[in-house]
Amino acid sequence: MLLLGLWMATWGLLAASQTSLSTLGTGPSMPSTFIPCGPCMCNGSVVDCSSRGLTSVPSCGLPATATSLSLRNNSISYLGHGIFTRFLSLRWLDLSFNLLRNISVDLFQSLPLTTLNLAHNHLVFGNGTNCIETPFANLVSLTHLDLSYNNLHNVSCAVVESNVSNLHWLDLSHNLYSLSTEPRLLKYLGKLAILDLSHNYLNSLSEHLFQDVRALQSLNLSQNQIPLNNNAYPLGVFAMLSNTLTELRLEGNCDASYSRENFSYPDKTFYQLTSLKYLQLDGLPNLEFGSGFEGMTSLTNLSLSGKDGGFCFINSLTNKTFLHVPQSLRSLHLSNCNITRIEMDAFRPLQHLHTLDLSFNLDLGFETLGNAFYSLQGSDLQELHINSIIHPYAMCVMVTPRNTRFFKHTHLETIHARGNRLEVFCEGALRNMPDSLKFVSVDENELGFGSYFKDLGHLKNLREIHNDGHKNAFEPPTEYPPDQMQQCSTGNVEELTDSGMNCHSPWHPEDFSLKTWEPQQTSSRKRRSSALHTSGKLLYTLPPNLETYVSRWDKLYYQILEVEFNTSNYLTVLNLCNNLLTTWIGPVTGLTKLVTLDLSNNFAHNVSTRFFHTLTSLKVLNVSRNFLRLIIENDTSGELFEPLHTLQSLYVSKNYLNAVPPNVFRGLINLQNLVLSHNSIFHFDVNISHMKNLSLLDLSYNYIRFLPQSVMDHLDSVAEYQQVTVDITFNSIACTCQHVDFLTWILTSKVKFRSSNRLSCLMSDGGVRERINVFDVIQSLQKSCTDKSGILVGAVSCAFCLLVAMFSALVYRYRWKLRYLYYASRLAYRRLQTCDDDNDDFEFDAFVSYSSEDNDFVHGELLEELETRAGLRLNVHNRDFIPGRPIPSNIVSAVQSSRRTLVVLSRELVQSEWCHYEMQMATMEAAHTGRDVLLFLLYEDVPSQQLPRDVLYNLQSSTYITFPGTRAEPSLVRDFWARLAQAIRQG
Ligand SMILES: *[C@@H]1O[C@H](CO)[C@@H](O)[C@H](O)[C@H]1NC(C)=O
Ligand SMILES: *[C@@H]1O[C@H](CO)[C@@H](O)[C@H](O)[C@H]1NC(C)=O
Repeated sequence: MLLLGLWMATWGLLAASQTSLSTLGTGPSMPSTFIPCGPCMCNGSVVDCSSRGLTSVPSCGLPATATSLSLRNNSISYLGHGIFTRFLSLRWLDLSFNLLRNISVDLFQSLPLTTLNLAHNHLVFGNGTNCIETPFANLVSLTHLDLSYNNLHNVSCAVVESNVSNLHWLDLSHNLYSLSTEPRLLKYLGKLAILDLSHNYLNSLSEHLFQDVRALQSLNLSQNQIPLNNNAYPLGVFAMLSNTLTELRLEGNCDASYSRENFSYPDKTFYQLTSLKYLQLDGLPNLEFGSGFEGMTSLTNLSLSGKDGGFCFINSLTNKTFLHVPQSLRSLHLSNCNITRIEMDAFRPLQHLHTLDLSFNLDLGFETLGNAFYSLQGSDLQELHINSIIHPYAMCVMVTPRNTRFFKHTHLETIHARGNRLEVFCEGALRNMPDSLKFVSVDENELGFGSYFKDLGHLKNLREIHNDGHKNAFEPPTEYPPDQMQQCSTGNVEELTDSGMNCHSPWHPEDFSLKTWEPQQTSSRKRRSSALHTSGKLLYTLPPNLETYVSRWDKLYYQILEVEFNTSNYLTVLNLCNNLLTTWIGPVTGLTKLVTLDLSNNFAHNVSTRFFHTLTSLKVLNVSRNFLRLIIENDTSGELFEPLHTLQSLYVSKNYLNAVPPNVFRGLINLQNLVLSHNSIFHFDVNISHMKNLSLLDLSYNYIRFLPQSVMDHLDSVAEYQQVTVDITFNSIACTCQHVDFLTWILTSKVKFRSSNRLSCLMSDGGVRERINVFDVIQSLQKSCTDKSGILVGAVSCAFCLLVAMFSALVYRYRWKLRYLYYASRLAYRRLQTCDDDNDDFEFDAFVSYSSEDNDFVHGELLEELETRAGLRLNVHNRDFIPGRPIPSNIVSAVQSSRRTLVVLSRELVQSEWCHYEMQMATMEAAHTGRDVLLFLLYEDVPSQQLPRDVLYNLQSSTYITFPGTRAEPSLVRDFWARLAQAIRQG
């Protein structure tokens, strides 16, 4: 008998593994259309041999018709003679990131190459004293050549010889060119438009260097060693470029180690660059831009920035600094320039300036800035960048009305003032802002509540405020701040403020007494302290045209209680995500035009179901990443979102939701996107039939096994007139006989499934199968499900009949049987080895099979009644299972070592695959041993049409006892437990 069992088990496992292999094998696995060709991947004529550890070009397997060949990132050090001649159509060749040192002259001969990338090799061309011929001759169609990151140096001579006249783009950056007295370097390149010679060792420019590149538009000479003076820039060096060159980069050439005397802007040489629009160069200390700048009449953009490898140590801008800079200038970048002083008339010559960047001049300060604006009154300036113009350790930073007194007469529209440790605007400072102001970013400051909130109403045209806190943590300080940064004396402030304008020290505990957010004070300071005792509430006046307010990572730690805004506001976007707004009670009134509200990631848990009721214009609501589980799960009447009839997108991801009440979204008649991903939802039986415009239902990353018929029906009906997308990836959908309908729906419905090749299956044996092919799963299910129809239950009385019965059971449900026998025989074998078989004495009275949803009931009442009171020994899986042993083995062992298997039947259990498995094993045990194993506790009243066929079948042939409910009469309950205990003992 045992041998037979073992034999059948092996056979069954083999059969099982075969089925699973055949279903797996046909699933889509390669996402791209590239297929292997030799050691590489090919897609038609595109050949990708990158990162394959090659030491030479593969000699076979590659299509001769290749037009594009990448050999990037290999270890090729040598290219044999004629190795590319078979690729007659090759136009695009990438040999970058290899070990090439030399390339034979005729290697690329007669190839129709347009692009050749040889970057990141060790190419030299030449032996140190003499020029040698390069391999680029006669590449008539070549337009792009990248030779960056090699060892090219002066005696490499001409990069390209005659007949490459179509070269348009040449990158020689990161090489070893020095002196640059080699005029042949750029010969024959009459069509060259873009030349990069940055990151070399050039220390001056030879007068004839650019005489042949007469179409040059962009020249990059940054990061060399060419000092800014008239010797290094011979007078006529740009003469041939005066009509074409529009962009010139020279930054990173003058580091601070050069002595000051050698510096001056070579303006006489620049004079010829009449077409130049963009000029970037290093900033020299306290020097004027000479009269030669007047020749650059097209110049619009001048950058002296010390960022990104440039050097800038200007120190002070005087009334004369920009005197000769052309009026055409629109954009001036002076960031990271160590500017500490700006004379009041410094910007006078730049009246058409549009953008001014003074960021990262850490010692500039608001006082100097304010004075510099004297000469910008009436100018065209629209955009101002003053990020980090304050020392990073400064304290008590405030902006006074005196600082802003000249702003009033500018046309500023945009101000970026991030990272200034700004704590407060003194009263009146904001009233000096021009009416033109539309956008302000004060991210990464320390702005607290203050009486300046009263001035917000004066910012007439302000549309957008960004007031984010610090998103990223600071690095640990490396030194102590300078002494004067430590002082925080209000005395200084009094000096700076205009008479009558109070600028209090920024922190007043009273200000926070009202426990509301963004309070706006309407009373003076004296009256404020009395507000502490009355429960008066403030009316917050927003800038009348403010549309967007963003305040993320701002450590906002307020309870949102009653808040009132002036109703004449236009606030449409409010983003307060990543704060600590844990309590949403409301009512928040006045935000009648609010369309987008982001309250995600706020640790919210105390939320009134009426909180959103005043926000009736909302179209987008994001409440993801909070703790709304209990609020939503208890909202059975659907009050929370009820009045949001205009809502189009609702995001409730990552809220630990387990269940979603059917009517929770009942008011959302215009909803288009419903995102419930990253929760723990088991069953999505939610009423969505009113969502006629639904276009996205995102249920990814949950525990959903299937969708109920009503949801499928509604999605189908919407899909008739518009596209609907459903995302059920990362859910393990049920691939069992009872859910073939759902799988068929996935395959045949008009509804679109996002990444439908990424679906995974929970199989009836409890295993999970990734990346299934739905069609194949249905096919294999249909086969095994119809096998079940040949039920044959015969009376069994003799050994022969038992054998027959076993075979019929194999036909009936061969998988269960074989698995049971397999684990049973393994256990039996183990038992034989360890101790004597003692069949009559069970280790447990009952093995309890239940869904984890009913955990509380089983571990509470049931264990208490049956174990403690009735003295039965129960096997409960998460308590008594042997860790480390496979679950199927544990289940079979539990079924065998228990007199009865008690099934706690509930809605959830019917859907649980493991419980299904347990039930099957108990059936097998019953059939195998002839004892009465199964015992049902009807915990919930599940309508019989909801019960799967096999459960119904088992119910009919087994004992079952109905639980009267926790609220039933005590005598009934007592009777129930007694009957149950007796039924278990009788087994
Ligand atoms: C470089 O090559 C030339 C000619 O082929 C030869 O005369 C010269 O000696 C070589 N120089 C070095 C350093 O090998
Ligand atoms: C610069 O201009 C301002 C305003 O016209 C003037 O007050 C100041 O004296 C000038 N500075 C110098 C050094 O001329």
